[in-house]
Amino acid sequence: RTEKAADAVSRLTRWHDDFPTPGVRFADLTPVFADAEGFRAVVDCFAAIAPEADIVAGVDARGFLLGAGVAATLGTGVLAIRKGGKLPPPVVSREYQLEYGSAALEIPADGVELTGKRILLLDDVLATGGTLAAAAALFAEVGAEVVAAAVVLELEFLKGRDHQGDYPLTSIVKL
Ligand code: PRP
Ligand code: MG
Repeated sequence: RTEKAADAVSRLTRWHDDFPTPGVRFADLTPVFADAEGFRAVVDCFAAIAPEADIVAGVDARGFLLGAGVAATLGTGVLAIRKGGKLPPPVVSREYQLEYGSAALEIPADGVELTGKRILLLDDVLATGGTLAAAAALFAEVGAEVVAAAVVLELEFLKGRDHQGDYPLTSIVKL
């Protein structure tokens, strides 16, 4: 499955130079997710990483697609980690630096029992690693355990992996 997923990602990813800002090369995984076999392969690959997960969490925005697919496959619930300002209070919030600019990620501070829960954390791309680290920090703050994290595409030259916690981090394709 990993090989099949990697093939789909390599074949279908659309690359954009100087988007969203000059000097950034943007990886658009939209065609990978739109492809039935590509999406299935990616979801199955991620589901196999942490079958013991209690909740699958996906980072705004494309992580939502992955999170929903993997959660449905594992039979867990899915948690959307939102960009700042999208959730009603109370929220747990974490600011982070992006490859371009800064932002915040948030999860609900009540309504979802997260303490002691095992979290599988998903996003589409690992670049500088700030996004994934901020997402993981949210769960640490509420006493949940990130048992594994995974991304479709890892841009190794940006060394995002160096900024992660001690959870295992899987990527389907490394560039
Ligand atoms: C992109 C990508 C990852 C993040 C990786 O999201 O989807 O979430 O950047 O970058 P990092 O490892 O340097 O933090 P972006 O912030 O562009 O927002 P989007 O997902 O809403 O498009
Ligand atoms: Mg993102």
